[in-house]
Formats: sequence, structure tokens, C-alpha cells
Amino acid sequence: MSHPSFAPPGDAAHATPTVLIGAGGHAAALIEVIRAAGLLHPVGCLDQSATAPVLGVPVIGDEARLEALRHEGVAAVVVCIGHNATRLRWIGRARALGYALPVVAHPAAILSPSARLGAGSVVLPRAVLGARALAGEGTILNTGTIVEHDCELGHGVHVAPGAVLGGGVRVGDGALIGIGAALRPLVRVGREAVVGTGAAVVEDVADGATVGGVPARPLARE
Ligand SMILES: CC(C)(COP(=O)(O)OP(=O)(O)OC[C@H]1O[C@@H](n2cnc3c(N)ncnc32)[C@H](O)[C@@H]1OP(=O)(O)O)[C@@H](O)C(=O)NCCC(=O)NCCS
Repeated sequence: MSHPSFAPPGDAAHATPTVLIGAGGHAAALIEVIRAAGLLHPVGCLDQSATAPVLGVPVIGDEARLEALRHEGVAAVVVCIGHNATRLRWIGRARALGYALPVVAHPAAILSPSARLGAGSVVLPRAVLGARALAGEGTILNTGTIVEHDCELGHGVHVAPGAVLGGGVRVGDGALIGIGAALRPLVRVGREAVVGTGAAVVEDVADGATVGGVPARPLARE
């Protein structure tokens, strides 16, 4: 396939032309991961509100351009959106348009050879994914997370910086595990649940629940 509009320069000549969806802080973090990994060439970001370049990557329009870019030689999409359900929706849309959805992992992350990560997942520096761990599509393993052996994460899960999941923890689709949370081995966190920053989860968390504290308890939310 030729790449007429987005031929990357110099050392990036063999990298895959890639468009990023989103132009916020998560995009900045992922641009640095992409550059460190070296296999993709970020040609631009799509965003409906931001216009400023992100670490030198221009904003080239809003998400409505996604379909046209597929016909202009752009081959892959990295969805840079922290909101779990929104990220999964864009992954589905990009797949329907025929884009590749590569797993993007920083070279300073440690991924067990027996672990598996679904399409469109991202792994930031110093994250560790242990033996036989499984994670679905659109997973974010953020900076310094530890997901221990035999964990099973559904689709669209975000494990925020510094969170630690003990062995065999199961996390349902769309759940957020907050910054610095610690999860006891074998606990189950339900779909779309939120584990608050710094929580110590020692028992199962129900679908859609928000928990926080040490030990973690349901939090009343407005
Ligand atoms: C748990 C959380 C979702 C609650 O957010 P919220 O619904 O906006 O709640 P509020 O900030 O209004 O706080 C509501 C109450 O819960 C308490 N609370 C909030 N977060 C808490 C936490 N992590 N642990 C314990 N208590 C918490 C507040 O102190 C407040 O208590 P009060 O009613 O006695 O004053 C949020 O604080 C959180 O931890 N989100 C995770 C963020 C994260 O890690 N993101 C990843 C970014 S990379």
C-alpha cells in the first residue's frame, strides 16, 4: 500500500502512518510511548475541541476525518481517550473502517510472554503484566501499574498509575482502578465499577459500584 499524504520522514520511513484520536494529556503520554517503541508514525491527532499540536504532532481535524484518512494512506489508529466507554466506541468505529488497532507498549514496560492484551491496548512506562494475565481490548495499563499473574481484565479497563492487582484478580468491562489502589489477590471488580484513588480492595466490588478507602467501602456519590 502506498502512503501518498503521510509519507513519514527519515528514520520513520518504515513506520506505519497512524492517527491518534484525542489531543489531551493522554495523547501526549501515548505519543512518547509511540516514539519510544518506534513502529508507528503519528501523522496527526483528531479532536473536536483542541487545535494546538501535541508534542509536535498537529491536530489535523476532528473525528469526522477518520473515514477520509483511511483512503489517504493512514493505516492504524491509537485511541487516546481516558474515558472507558468512549475509548471502546472509537475502537469499534476504527475497526469498522478497516484500521489496524495495534497494542502500543513502552519499551520500559514488562509484558510476560504468556500474557495477552487485546487490540488497541496501551502500556505505559514501568507497567508490569504478569504471567498468564489476560486483558481485553482497549486496556490502559498506566505508568507503573502491576497486574500480577493470572489476572483477567475485560474490555476497556483502565488501571491508573501505580495501582497494583494481586494474582488472579478479575476486573469487569469498563472498570476504572484508581491511582495507587491495591487489590487483594483473587478479588473481583464488577463491570464499570470505580475503585477510588488509594483504595485497598479486600472484597469483591459490585457492578457499577464506586468504592474507596482502606479497606475499601462503597462511597455515596451525588
Ligand atoms: C472515588 C472517586 C471516583 C469519587 O469521586 P466523586 O464522585 O467526584 O466524589 P467526591 O470527590 O465528590 O467525594 C465524595 C466523598 O467521597 C470521598 N472520597 C472521594 N474519593 C475518595 C477516595 N479515593 N477514597 C476515599 N474517599 C474518597 C470524599 O472525601 C467525599 O467524602 P465526604 O462526602 O465525606 O466529604 C474519585 O475521588 C477517585 O478516586 N477517582 C479515581 C481517579 C483516578 O485515579 N483516575 C485515573 C487518572 S489517570
